[in-house]
Amino acid sequence: MKRRIIIDCDPGQDDAVALLLAFASPDELDLLGITTVGGNVPLALTHRNARIMCDLAGRQDTAVYAGCAEPMIRPLVTAEAIHGETGINGIDVFEPETPLQKIHAVDYLIETLLAADDASITLVPTGPLTNIGTAIEREPAILPKVEQIVLMGGAMREGGNRTPSAEFNILVDPHAADIVLRCGRPITQMGLDVTHQVLSTVERVERIKALGNSVARATAGMLSFFDRFDTKKYQSKGAPLHDPCTVAWLLKPGLFEGKECNVAVETESELTMGHTAVDFWHVSDRPVNVNWIYGVDADGFYDLLLERLARFGD
Ligand code: BDR
Ligand code: CA
Repeated sequence: MKRRIIIDCDPGQDDAVALLLAFASPDELDLLGITTVGGNVPLALTHRNARIMCDLAGRQDTAVYAGCAEPMIRPLVTAEAIHGETGINGIDVFEPETPLQKIHAVDYLIETLLAADDASITLVPTGPLTNIGTAIEREPAILPKVEQIVLMGGAMREGGNRTPSAEFNILVDPHAADIVLRCGRPITQMGLDVTHQVLSTVERVERIKALGNSVARATAGMLSFFDRFDTKKYQSKGAPLHDPCTVAWLLKPGLFEGKECNVAVETESELTMGHTAVDFWHVSDRPVNVNWIYGVDADGFYDLLLERLARFGD
């Protein structure tokens, strides 16, 4: 049976690739809508970028919603230094035909979930968790409707990428992350421990480019741009392709290794704000709330991505 999903994102090149991977997988995924949030770049750009991906994929029928421009409590922190001033530098940005829906993303999430059967919709957040946290806080009755939450955020062994302690998505809205992590629904979490294994090496990007279709070329362009900052920062052979890990897990969970454990988020200390305390060895008595993903078959991941990107025509 197809899994019904809503992707909540802040594109961002890697969010954009997550969207393209979902568009290319209609047999497994029924993409009900895309909700956007302020994160990598301000909200006005994240919803435009999501709609550009719909245009590129020929999916102008996709419903895209704009959500929260600012985190629940803290001021917004953005990441133009990584993603460029457009958020999706590496391709020519244009004004998309895909329309922006009139209702707020949080209202859409609440209305859609309330109207759904129990455990029938999977949420796939790849940005700060502000929209999801706000929806849960405003209408907790949505929770039984959520099948699971498959999110990108946090870190354990890798440490932080935005502060020494914190990964970007969780740092931007730790209060929303705290609400989500304590929501009681099944959560699969892709932190930096796994996403830093999924490297867009020059060779992999060349293979994507060689597919030749316009979506593949756009993907290669975005990944080449993304690469220049991260390879310097991590001294690695390519930039980590964080967000598509969520969609790839939905498509092929066997590519990944995970462990059930408790994950809690720091919301008070300015020094370690947004840190994810992952109880990997079960040394606390805090209850299991997350399937913490820590390993991946990176070659298998890129094979999947290539196979799906090859499906786009021109
Ligand atoms: C996360 O932060 C953003 O820059 C990326 O889009 C990804 O969601 C990685 O820390
Ligand atoms: Ca993101």
